[in-house]
Amino acid sequence: MPRTHVYSIDDFELKDKKVFIRTDFNVPVKNGFVEDHIRLQSALSTLKYALKNQARVIIGSHRGRPNKDNKKKLSLEPFGYYLGKELNCEVLFIEDIESVIPSVLLSSLNEKKIVLLENLRFHPGEEKGDRHWAEQLSSYVDIYINEAFSVSHRHHVSVEALPQAVKNCGQGFSMKKEQEILDYIRDRSPSPFVLLAGGVKVSDKIKAIDCLIDRVDSVLIGGVMAYTFLKAKGVSTGEAFIQKESLKMAENFINRLQIREKPLLLPIDHVVVPMNGNKNKKKITNDSEVPDGFCPMDIGPKTIELFSKELNKARTVFWNGPVGKFEDHEFSKGTLSMCEAITQCKNTFRVVGGGDSIAAVLQSGKQECFDYISTGGGAALKYLEQGSLPGIDSLLKTPQEAKLLKESLSSF
Ligand code: 3PG
Repeated sequence: MPRTHVYSIDDFELKDKKVFIRTDFNVPVKNGFVEDHIRLQSALSTLKYALKNQARVIIGSHRGRPNKDNKKKLSLEPFGYYLGKELNCEVLFIEDIESVIPSVLLSSLNEKKIVLLENLRFHPGEEKGDRHWAEQLSSYVDIYINEAFSVSHRHHVSVEALPQAVKNCGQGFSMKKEQEILDYIRDRSPSPFVLLAGGVKVSDKIKAIDCLIDRVDSVLIGGVMAYTFLKAKGVSTGEAFIQKESLKMAENFINRLQIREKPLLLPIDHVVVPMNGNKNKKKITNDSEVPDGFCPMDIGPKTIELFSKELNKARTVFWNGPVGKFEDHEFSKGTLSMCEAITQCKNTFRVVGGGDSIAAVLQSGKQECFDYISTGGGAALKYLEQGSLPGIDSLLKTPQEAKLLKESLSSF
């Protein structure tokens, strides 16, 4: 039977229920302080709603990709202070996530006292989808809420196995909004639809872009990704990073776009530095060729002009990934110019997604000019590609399950 229904947090009676809210706090922390971020803000209304409705709130999130060397830096402890301030409550930080939380502690939770778990990826079972870890977590959860769209493409315990192990599960407000916007982009937003993609995670993104081939009217690719495409076209790419296993796919994509007579715009000039990274020796290439011994760091002025003109024609823009190493002031011009070009578009539905692109938008101070800022990078593309994500599928109920749940909710 098809699974069709996803509950929302406001479908549940929350009073005195232990509500596990999966958030995505994978955001920058500087000098021990959490940088205010769209991702954090997007979870706040769900958290506030849960507290207002007297839930016993347990927050779980991941941060980064922990290993034995970087673990200390990826603790969620600094988020306790941020949450306490935003939610005006005491935050009990639970460092030992491998043990079951004592029930007496959970019973003491209320709108003025919440639990924040340590980085869930510190648990060896989280990324492996370990069912025992899911069962253990579910033992102290009455209701599971997913408010972490940006990690919902992962098959991790707190995203997929946990909601399957908890009878009552649903989504938060921001999670729902993400899907509404992306559904609109995929199915109904006005044409021409211009997709601007960049960033580093080539293999993650290329499949998604490929799936949008019939929906988009033109594709602009910058950033690290662009060099795999340029290489596939036989252009010299100097010392640029090439994702070798994606070359064939890039080549197919170029051909398929060509057959459809849709433009694919790649950088026609670059800001490059010698391999030793000496910024004083940076220069702009004359054309799309990157000389041997040089690394591309940003798109050049001719590319900025070319991309900006194409963006100017758009009625829908979806932007995912910076077109250069924008976090370094020397190489931020391309990305900030793309941001500017998008905000200059008239009568255009503008959406940006992904951690780095959001950071660029925030840096430019142009956030108000976007119709929507998606918390998801890879997740948003995957959603556009597949129309769902593992973290959404695991919340789905069959009509029969939904009916039973609805009946039980009235006596819950
Ligand atoms: C992200 O930043 O894209 C999400 O938090 C997911 O992180 P991940 O790519 O490490 O799974």
